[in-house]
Amino acid sequence: MSKNYAIAPSILSADFLQLGEQISACESAGADWIHIDVMDGHFVPNLTMGPVVVEACRKATGLLLDVHLMIEKPENLLEAFAIAGADRLTVHVETCPHLYRTIQQIQSLGCRAGVTLNPGTPAAAIGEVLHMVDLALVMMVNPGFSGQAFIAEMLPKVAEIRAMLDAVNPAAWLEVDGGVSARTLPQVREAGANAFVAGSAVFGHPDGIKAGVEALREGIT
Ligand code: DX5
Ligand code: ZN
Repeated sequence: MSKNYAIAPSILSADFLQLGEQISACESAGADWIHIDVMDGHFVPNLTMGPVVVEACRKATGLLLDVHLMIEKPENLLEAFAIAGADRLTVHVETCPHLYRTIQQIQSLGCRAGVTLNPGTPAAAIGEVLHMVDLALVMMVNPGFSGQAFIAEMLPKVAEIRAMLDAVNPAAWLEVDGGVSARTLPQVREAGANAFVAGSAVFGHPDGIKAGVEALREGIT
């Protein structure tokens, strides 16, 4: 079941009273991963979920759990997220003074490691670790909330990181997050992304989750 792209619904936009059902709906609609946005109210101005929610998601699905850590000092919580059942842990370079070590720590816990950067951070900030990650994530919005408009000025950075990965780690995923919809997806795909996080475009689709996932897939193929 190896595809060259992945659709990752972000449960930040889900109805939490029906989280299990909504994750199942994503799975039956053909979503590839479940994206879980962890926010601490410090690094980003919002507070969301932690290992308990990851553990609940683990029971609800066999899909890869793609955990996006928007938290200060992520190294203190990596083990808890690994035990909870995360498959991939993605950390922000802005929160990791010892980024190389943090990535090694994620891998030693048996998880895949991802690295990401804010819109204001240049691509070079993650250059030294691209050879060792499973995924690089380009934030297309300032992290903290779903439903924000995509910052089109980030498209050249997607292309820049695509070229950097092609040179040292072509098998790694290049993911984009924030403002991805059926309308904007072709632009990020054209720039070189192959993994697409979407919150409101999936859970807020007027015709439901299945229609949301299918509309994104149409933008890929
Ligand atoms: C933003 C989060 C995103 C967000 C995506 O800080 O990392 O994953 O939930 O939501 P949309 O697709 O609505 O921009
Ligand atoms: Zn995210």
